[in-house]
Amino acid sequence: MTQPPLRLGILGSGKGSNFRAIADAISAGTLNAEVALVLSDVQHAGILALAHERGYPAQFVPPGKYRSKLEPVVEAWVVDLLRGAGVELVVLAGYMRMIKAPLLEAFPNRIINIHPSLLPQFPGLDAWRQAIDSGVTESGCTVHYVDGGMDTGPIIAQRRVPVLPGDTPETLHARIQEQEHQLYPEIIQQFAEKLRVN
Ligand code: GAR
Repeated sequence: MTQPPLRLGILGSGKGSNFRAIADAISAGTLNAEVALVLSDVQHAGILALAHERGYPAQFVPPGKYRSKLEPVVEAWVVDLLRGAGVELVVLAGYMRMIKAPLLEAFPNRIINIHPSLLPQFPGLDAWRQAIDSGVTESGCTVHYVDGGMDTGPIIAQRRVPVLPGDTPETLHARIQEQEHQLYPEIIQQFAEKLRVN
């Protein structure tokens, strides 16, 4: 019997290439999910334009006065929006703020993030640049459960890429993103299978 698609709530602040990979996997039939809602803390983020282009419900949520997290009242609003859209899994796709109590408590073990390094190495901003600057010969990406920290929380899966002589932050990020775009839809599909069985 075909299971109903897993309803995703996508949060992003950037250009949205991971969101695009997820949407493409849904269209291709390799990911049994549907995009219930896309939210961004950045008014003119590419991810919102992409969502509109593809006809998904999408909305800018003004983040309030803090730089690294949402104001609690805003985060409570985000919870309402996600619940209202029937979201079952919250997917951070280039979302550049930390998640706090209202959202964590509303979706326990149902919020995942992708980060462009082999965590716990290089959390935070521009992880690809941190990798180049530190001289490592290998980097990659990590999908993990989200807790209240910055790029912390139990690791679900990682993919490795080499750091090559002559790499710039841009070439390394592009190599990491190729892996992100494969890994994230695969992991979300695993959730779709697991959450439907339990
Ligand atoms: C991705 O590389 C993602 O791993 C990273 O932001 C980029 C967003 O790209 N996330 C973080 O650094 C989270 N700490 P995208 O908007 O093209 O998906």
